[in-house]
Amino acid sequence: MDRPRISLVLAMSLDGKIADAQRRAARFSSQADLDHLEARVAAADGVLFGSGTLRAYGTTLSVRNPALIEARRQRGQTDQPIHIVWSPSGHLDPQWRFFQQPVPRGLITTPAGAQPWQTGEFFDRLWVIPKVPTDAWNWPKLLAQFPTQGLHTLALLGGGHLTADLLRHGCIDEVYITVCPLLLGGATAPTPVDGEGFLAELAPRLTLLEHRTIGDEVFLHYLVHPSGV
Ligand SMILES: NC(=O)c1ccc[n+]([C@@H]2O[C@H](COP(=O)([O-])OP(=O)(O)OC[C@H]3O[C@@H](n4cnc5c(N)ncnc54)[C@H](OP(=O)(O)O)[C@@H]3O)[C@@H](O)[C@H]2O)c1
Repeated sequence: MDRPRISLVLAMSLDGKIADAQRRAARFSSQADLDHLEARVAAADGVLFGSGTLRAYGTTLSVRNPALIEARRQRGQTDQPIHIVWSPSGHLDPQWRFFQQPVPRGLITTPAGAQPWQTGEFFDRLWVIPKVPTDAWNWPKLLAQFPTQGLHTLALLGGGHLTADLLRHGCIDEVYITVCPLLLGGATAPTPVDGEGFLAELAPRLTLLEHRTIGDEVFLHYLVHPSGV
């Protein structure tokens, strides 16, 4: 594959929402789900999320479990994956706690968006893409650079807009979704895949690989069929 393997990892309410209608940070899943999320982050070379997600949380999830850090060392990985935010505008707040967290950071942005972040103080790596309409953002071309930079696996942590964009380009390989026992409702509450959506006959299809139940949560793991199959 000429791009990293990308695993989407999300928690979702029973009615299919990934946050409430105020689009706040999603803090509704259990400790078991947070442990599962940390394990997926620990497995990856990099973590990717949209700026909407970073705005909601102000932080990212670092690997804290010593056994997971040791396993990374055994695999020849750095202690923490690089945490990469996608923000075409580059409108991010340097006061967010994210910028003090002990993780390497990356930014995918446009030339204008990159301007305030050139100093190297906040981001270890910048990927700067010529400004294009959002729907023309060339993810396959960008992601093709990643394996040569040591990024062979990415954990995609949302949100719905970034996921929709990557899915549209056939760039998501597997999906981990935890179904949580609450009903959030609300027409404006985000869902796992935002944007324009797919017509049913063209929608990506998936195969269930694993399902587990812990308490009232259901942990689902699906393989995404390659585009066009
Ligand atoms: N339950 C979960 O597991 C989970 C996980 C992650 C996130 N969430 C929730 O998801 C929400 C954030 O998701 P999101 O979809 O709003 O943001 P997102 O996918 O994290 O990031 C979207 C970003 O993409 C850029 N963008 C480019 N074109 C866009 C367009 N047409 N529309 C919107 N954004 C566009 C914008 O960046 P710039 O403005 O920076 O240019 C925007 O901030 C939050 O409520 C968060 O709590 C839940």
